[in-house]
Amino acid sequence: MSTATQISTLADTSTQRQQLRTFIRRQRQQLSPQQQQQAAQDLLQHALALPGLTQQQHFALYLANDGEADTYPLIQALWQLGKSVYLPVLHPFAAGYLLFVRYDKDTLLYPNKFGIPEPFAACHRLLPVQQLDMIFTPLVAFDAAGNRLGMGGGFYDRTLSQLPPGSECQVIGLAHNCQQVDAVPGEAWDIPLQQIITPGKYFDFR
Ligand SMILES: Nc1ncnc2c1ncn2[C@@H]1O[C@H](COP(=O)(O)OP(=O)(O)OP(=O)(O)O)[C@@H](O)[C@H]1O
Ligand SMILES: [Mg+2]
Repeated sequence: MSTATQISTLADTSTQRQQLRTFIRRQRQQLSPQQQQQAAQDLLQHALALPGLTQQQHFALYLANDGEADTYPLIQALWQLGKSVYLPVLHPFAAGYLLFVRYDKDTLLYPNKFGIPEPFAACHRLLPVQQLDMIFTPLVAFDAAGNRLGMGGGFYDRTLSQLPPGSECQVIGLAHNCQQVDAVPGEAWDIPLQQIITPGKYFDFR
């Protein structure tokens, strides 16, 4: 069944967004271990071919959850290249915002309130979002214009809104092929993506 038949066009935007999240999350959760493994390898190859990657130093990634494509091969490749990797951590005081904390091979991780592993947010391990060179974001659904639908917390929208206009930080969405939809029903606060990598295609909207 197509996405269009699952999402009621008569519903309001908020309901359409929730229906889309439910539908796409189910699709990606149903990918087989073999499909997941292949997707992770294909994403890794596209990511390593990103223009300018070798010149950059500070990379925000995330650990896969809920059927998201596995980012660990990319994290390992970045470590191998001598890059600094950071993971998002729920901000302890500013609700709805993320902090980025240095993640090394031996960094211990602790589950947050969503059960997602996080490093401890020690002050000396934080890097302000404005100092990151590349931020790889998770997403639930995207369209061919770079519009992004996340899990619904607004965490990336709030955090990316802290980047100054004209920032050179590259924001890149990672997704499975099945997460592309015809059109994401947008809201005013959504921050569109400049680039998206799927196993099948690299999208550059800049
Ligand atoms: N810059 C912002 N300032 C304040 N609230 C915001 C901001 N961006 C988003 N929000 C709020 O966050 C909530 C969720 O937003 P949205 O549905 O776009 O989440 P999402 O993009 O799916 O999630 P995420 O960014 O965590 O992946 C909304 O109620 C929205 O008002
Ligand atoms: Mg949003």
